[in-house]
Amino acid sequence: MKKIAIFASGTGSNFTALVEAIQKQQIPVTVALLVCDHGDAPVLQRALSANIPTFVINFKDYATKAQAEGQILERLKAAQVDAILLAGYMRIIGQTLLNAYPDKILNIHPALLPSFPGAHGIEDAWNYGVKVTGVTIHYINADVDAGPIVAQAAVPILPEDDIHTLETRIHQTEHQLYPAVLENLIQKGEL
Ligand code: GRF
Repeated sequence: MKKIAIFASGTGSNFTALVEAIQKQQIPVTVALLVCDHGDAPVLQRALSANIPTFVINFKDYATKAQAEGQILERLKAAQVDAILLAGYMRIIGQTLLNAYPDKILNIHPALLPSFPGAHGIEDAWNYGVKVTGVTIHYINADVDAGPIVAQAAVPILPEDDIHTLETRIHQTEHQLYPAVLENLIQKGEL
């Protein structure tokens, strides 16, 4: 059975959606580790409740990103992790992890890339006034929010929407799409 690590920095709703879907849909994959870069992030409690081991890394404890990622890499290797799913991980993945996991790191972005990359995809789409936005799952490479796209789902912006109702629908869409993509890639042996 393949083993994945999930990287998250904050709330962790995608973490929970993945963990629950793996269980319910019997996706043949084990979540071997949660990597989190904030010691007080709510996602840590979610991992605890789901009995998933966690590794908290404080980047300020390391002189360079390469050193911090070196520590993460040791934990990933110890847990025999095959692939990484970023789920609200608010850091740019560096060369250390990219080299160790080529074509094995996925990210979820709350907009239809290449539109609205960056940390505020939902707000940026809303402020621009587009009528359709959505969710993108893509592989990570050295360019931010620009790796090969695996899947996208559109979310229309309705006349009665405000940013909060839009956010809710984007997150609901994320929680469907990420597990579906994981299942598909595992089935195809691509992760
Ligand atoms: C999601 O909207 C994801 O697309 C973005 O960060 C957010 C994380 O939300 N990369 P959560 O922590 O999974 O609730």
